[in-house]
Amino acid sequence: MSKTIWKGGALLAPVPPALVTCGTMENPNVLTIAWTGIVCTHPAMTYISVRPSRYSYEIIQKSGEFVINLPTSAMAKTVDFCGMKSGKNCNKIDRCHLQLAEGQTVRTPILSDCPVSLECKVTESKALGSHTMFLAEITCVQVEERFLNSKGKLNLQQAGLLAYAHGEYFALGGKRGEFGFSVRKKKR
Ligand SMILES: Cc1cc2nc3c(=O)[nH]c(=O)nc-3n(C[C@H](O)[C@H](O)[C@H](O)COP(=O)(O)O)c2cc1C
Repeated sequence: MSKTIWKGGALLAPVPPALVTCGTMENPNVLTIAWTGIVCTHPAMTYISVRPSRYSYEIIQKSGEFVINLPTSAMAKTVDFCGMKSGKNCNKIDRCHLQLAEGQTVRTPILSDCPVSLECKVTESKALGSHTMFLAEITCVQVEERFLNSKGKLNLQQAGLLAYAHGEYFALGGKRGEFGFSVRKKKR
């Protein structure tokens, strides 16, 4: 297989194009963030990388809080819009008819429209270059109840989460397995 060699670049895909809320119930904002991920299981930790020019940057820096909301593929247009317009001169929550709900552990509201919301408290910020990384502890997770089965297990396949890869939005495809299935012994 022949490969083209490119210089180093931010080509990790797919990633979640998260709708990150910040601010308060009275004064909220939302922006789209693709540079996010999990960095530790115990304690549960994540990061978001934000350009200092974003309106949300100062809000997050001052409050030390944000919420990562995972959108569905039906929300692709909203996700793109919230990544194109700034809260500096546009009320994106109203324009996109987004519904807010109270956070449990943070003053920042969550988006009811999203099946999963991770409430985050910033532990450290690090200027990396174009972006500053906010490292944060995930202090609470809110999950839409209709995606839980009778045993309380979360079935995210039903949620139809949105993915982002190299500038394009995708609906996740079908399930191909589950954690550990490649080595699990078959029941007789
Ligand atoms: C798919 C997508 C992913 C994005 N990811 C990031 C990101 O990881 N970090 C960032 O600073 N901006 C990112 N942006 C751009 C911001 O969402 C955009 O500048 C937004 O208008 C900022 O909103 P604000 O000014 O209200 O904070 C992304 C935009 C899109 C469409």
